Amino acid sequence: MSKVLVVYGSTTGNTESVSEVIAKALTNGGHAVEVQSAGDVSAENLAEGYDAVFFGCSTWGDDEIELQDDFIPLYDDLDKAGLSGKKVAVFGCGDTSYEHFCGAVDVIEEKSESLGAILLGDTLKIDGDPEADEVATWLTPISAKL
Ligand SMILES: Cc1cc2nc3c(=O)[nH]c(=O)nc-3n(C[C@H](O)[C@H](O)[C@H](O)COP(=O)(O)O)c2cc1C
Repeated sequence: MSKVLVVYGSTTGNTESVSEVIAKALTNGGHAVEVQSAGDVSAENLAEGYDAVFFGCSTWGDDEIELQDDFIPLYDDLDKAGLSGKKVAVFGCGDTSYEHFCGAVDVIEEKSESLGAILLGDTLKIDGDPEADEVATWLTPISAKL
């Protein structure tokens, strides 16, 4: 059993609902999961006490990548989160009609990796309404590494 923290930034609830799907699946797989809105956490030692952290964030902006508002302070201070050697997975919702489809997911993945996190697999980028099947397919190989 692993202890997993899921932290999400979500404005209209899409990434939040994906977080809940992930948490339910991981809980059913025997893991201890905590879900938090990025607006309710501090970056300081965020990963302490967890085996893995799942970051979820939607993308906002037109010409450039903008992270969902609640996630911005966490992203800015991510170096304080204690991610070195920690297992990390990144997911988020977006829209392929924008130039930077799920750009927030990419920048969070890059920053986590640069801080020494061990990426559990590919990112999950959801176009439009989240579907549980899509989440489950992504999660299967990732949860095998927990
Ligand atoms: C003003 C605006 C800007 C957006 N910019 C992007 C973008 O740059 N890239 C992207 O993939 N999606 C973009 N989106 C789509 C949202 O990320 C998408 O609706 C997502 O599902 C919202 O997730 P949330 O409910 O978790 O916040 C944008 C949407 C709006 C309304």
